[in-house]
Amino acid sequence: MSGISMDLSPAQTVIILDFGAQYTQLIARRVRECHVYCELLPYDTPLPVLRERRPVGIILSGGPPSVYERGAPQVDPSIYGLGIPILGICYGMQLMAQQLGGRVVPGEQREYGRSDLEIQRGDGLFSGLPDRLVAWMSHGDRVEAPPPGFEALARSANSPVAAMGNRARRLFGVQFHPEVTHTPWGSELLRNFLCRECGCEPSWTMGSFLRDAVAAVRDQVGNGRAVCALSGGVDSAVAAALVHRAVGDRLTCVFVNHGLLRSGEPESVRQTFAEHFRIPLVYVDAAQRFLERLRGVTDPEEKRRRIGEEFIRVFEEEAHRLGEVRFLVQGTLYPDVIESGPGHAATIKTHHNVGGLPERMHLRLIEPLRWLFKDEVRALGEELGLPEEIIWRHPFPGPGLAIRVVGEVTGERLEILRHADAIVMAELRASGYYQRLAQALVVLAPVRSVGVMGDQRSYAYPVILRAVTSEDFMTADWARLPFDLLERLSNRVVNEVPGVNRFLYDLTSKPPATIEWE
Ligand code: XMP
Repeated sequence: MSGISMDLSPAQTVIILDFGAQYTQLIARRVRECHVYCELLPYDTPLPVLRERRPVGIILSGGPPSVYERGAPQVDPSIYGLGIPILGICYGMQLMAQQLGGRVVPGEQREYGRSDLEIQRGDGLFSGLPDRLVAWMSHGDRVEAPPPGFEALARSANSPVAAMGNRARRLFGVQFHPEVTHTPWGSELLRNFLCRECGCEPSWTMGSFLRDAVAAVRDQVGNGRAVCALSGGVDSAVAAALVHRAVGDRLTCVFVNHGLLRSGEPESVRQTFAEHFRIPLVYVDAAQRFLERLRGVTDPEEKRRRIGEEFIRVFEEEAHRLGEVRFLVQGTLYPDVIESGPGHAATIKTHHNVGGLPERMHLRLIEPLRWLFKDEVRALGEELGLPEEIIWRHPFPGPGLAIRVVGEVTGERLEILRHADAIVMAELRASGYYQRLAQALVVLAPVRSVGVMGDQRSYAYPVILRAVTSEDFMTADWARLPFDLLERLSNRVVNEVPGVNRFLYDLTSKPPATIEWE
């Protein structure tokens, strides 16, 4: 794919080497919350590549349960000789201990959850922290003796070396997870590592990112023209606003209404863009085309494929009408970049919506958000002056309501779902719960059941509410909504939406379920 590599890394970059722990992304977020820029790289990134990034510090993430596992991931031990401060977390610490000659013993029992730490060296990493603190552990092996030249910095009941350090070489390890909120002083510890040991200035802010990104886009687009597909969601809106700030009206946005949007959505997106951005916007009503392409299709991935393909056709037609366009702006986020990187798990769902476009149209990609997490994109949106209703909007999938009408998508089913969705969203907003949820949606199941309404037998569809809390959408928990709110939702949906006679609440977390039903 012809893309432009937008290197926005500031002078001070910290590298996190990812050994595959569930919490690695959290480490990155915490580092950035300290206003220090960081990037995640696979643990086996070759040393020369690592050196090229000129990191001022390296963090080794957690990972598999044991350094004794067959094929347990390793880093090139010369990393410890680079003279760059390194902090190993959990598996990262055990690996450091093992590679540098310490004693790591296989644990018979996992130490999991809350643990009380006793700090033995209250300076350096633990500067300004209390002598005793609560930390969150999740490990089997433990370090019994630190490597030569290291000293134990903290201990817990089950970990004689819960933290270790070699001050001269600026190498450190902690057995617990400072990145999780269950370790209340974790952010301070990370800040000590970054600022005291790595010499980082806390200067990476959304303001500085925006300045650099605008300059980089301006540089790359030059006198060319760019086009951006708007979805109405926060990512494409922020990407468009940023690029518009850089190149002005040489950016045109295209908003394709595929007829699978929420009630009132096409109008509100058009209005918001006209009012707030003054970016040239092409609006295409292609609802009928998409519905025809979806006729008879029940398989979720086939729906995505057809929608993606049709989207490309429509978009291509519009872009040709615009004349000479060389760049395509996409709101790709950092988690997508990480997940599609090497070593990542099987595709559960194909999420890309405009995949295929850049090659077909010979467009070069501009992805100004590819280094940012969702919450950072929202902060950037605020920096750009985007309205709150866009910034705090729940994510909405590219294939829209098509993947919420389980089974075949028909005009009638879409209408039922849209109606139920509008009621649910209005009630969630009125109750203040919308802002507290990561995402809420309704699903129409392709079954019908018997009910009794006003002395009449009904035979109609159930509507299922899915409301989740989540930090990163990779895992999610069902939201504990109050019963009276659920009751109100149920009453309104069943009474007001023709074709529906039951209201269900989905009590499944992710995993094992996903957030969407398809
Ligand atoms: P799942 O269902 O995989 O969803 O737990 C995680 C997040 O991704 C969104 N999602 C999609 N977004 N195209 C998108 O642009 C898709 O095909 C798609 N499928 C799921 C989902 O809404 C949730 O926020």
